[in-house]
Amino acid sequence: MPYRTIIEPFRIKSVEPLRFTTGEERAAALAAAGWNLFGLRSDDVIIDLLTDSGTGAMSSEQWAAVMRGDESYAGSRSFERFQDVVRDLTGYDHVIPTHQGRASERILFGEAVTAGDVVPNNTHFDTTRANVEVQGAVALDLPCAAAADLQSDAPFKGDVDVDGLARVLADPSTKVPLVLVTVTNNSGGGQPVSLANLRAVRALCDRHGVPLLLDAARFAENAWFIVLREEGQHGRTPRAVAEEVFRLADGCLISLKKDGFGNIGGLLALHGRLGDLAARCRSSLILTEGFPTYGGLAGRDLEALAQGLLEVTDPDYLRYRVRTAAYLAEKAEAAGVPTVRPPGGHAVYLDAGALLPHIPPHELPAQALACALYLEGGVRGVEIGTFMFGRVRDDGGPDDPAPNELVRLALPRRVYTQSHVDYVGEVISAVAARSRSLRGYRIVEQPRWLRHFSARLEPLGSR
Ligand code: F0G
Repeated sequence: MPYRTIIEPFRIKSVEPLRFTTGEERAAALAAAGWNLFGLRSDDVIIDLLTDSGTGAMSSEQWAAVMRGDESYAGSRSFERFQDVVRDLTGYDHVIPTHQGRASERILFGEAVTAGDVVPNNTHFDTTRANVEVQGAVALDLPCAAAADLQSDAPFKGDVDVDGLARVLADPSTKVPLVLVTVTNNSGGGQPVSLANLRAVRALCDRHGVPLLLDAARFAENAWFIVLREEGQHGRTPRAVAEEVFRLADGCLISLKKDGFGNIGGLLALHGRLGDLAARCRSSLILTEGFPTYGGLAGRDLEALAQGLLEVTDPDYLRYRVRTAAYLAEKAEAAGVPTVRPPGGHAVYLDAGALLPHIPPHELPAQALACALYLEGGVRGVEIGTFMFGRVRDDGGPDDPAPNELVRLALPRRVYTQSHVDYVGEVISAVAARSRSLRGYRIVEQPRWLRHFSARLEPLGSR
């Protein structure tokens, strides 16, 4: 098409009103939530960019599929449809539905990982790390060198450090039960992994007889980046690339709340050669998730997810999806807010450390930015910095800081239009214009684990 504007490749059939709030209302709501954005009621948020997980809009075909759901306890026809779609996409025989990604993690690692093992990954997502560590194993991050430079425009900053992986696999004192690769690398800024890197990882795994599994929550976005950026891949369909990527591995864990276009759902799928492991995982599934033909989901969910998996590799959708994130990143940068480069598929990561050099890490600059965006325009993002990952010191000194101070603005799928994104850009710009006046925060109450979900804070200088 000769036009520059990439329009939303859908029209709207059902709408959900937004509730507009005033600045005073937001100030009161945030204070009541202890200055923790997780404590807000969604009605007090105008544009919710907290996560792209489970927040997407289903298509009319998905809603139609919901009506076809077969709720039989065993042998449901909806499971068969789901299984067929997943087998076609991945080439894996064993298809195990779960209620969401972390359930797949718990089941897989519970069967495949034991105390003292090392599980390498480009970067573990938080729940993936926790589910490895709960087995007494080490979750080892091996991102490629390019990932460390937030500003570089390297095309595949999600790649695994292949030399690092080779050293780990060659070390006779380390037991590696499986290698994971997260596509796209959420914790590393939503950066894609190249086909070339996956092939190199596959070759290493073959040499050492170690299975390779994908954490494939955003497999379609990753495939699109390969089509756009990798030499020799232009002109292929994202679906063909995704199929190839799955066939380079021995199995996958997927949170279907992302590229499954589901509001809930997950899966664990394993190649036929991992049949014994699959059988053990199915037994474990029955303990906590349910019978293997529904695994914690309703038949209607399986139908909606099967349809979602067919829709998500549509090039028109992926072009719009990835362009939306890039467009928002351009707005932020034009306003003087540095972002993690290049923009990922599902989110824009604002660099609060660079924007707010006057706020030291232990005063939580990224939390200050996240709160300011909410107070300014009702935009909710999530802090990914010292509030989330900092470590409390035993000697009572300031927290050990996280490596970066970021605010993630994650884009729900097919939910917001370009004018919503323009509005978010204006809110960022208004906050950036008064960035020097932003102040830090102090934590007044925190739990021992995963403090960012429930801690209470207080603005510094407020008393
Ligand atoms: N793996 C990745 C790469 C993820 O991003 C997530 C979830 C999971 C696994 C766990 O899946 O939530 O279905 O249990 N990420 C969400 C986020 C929560 O906001 O990035 P889940």
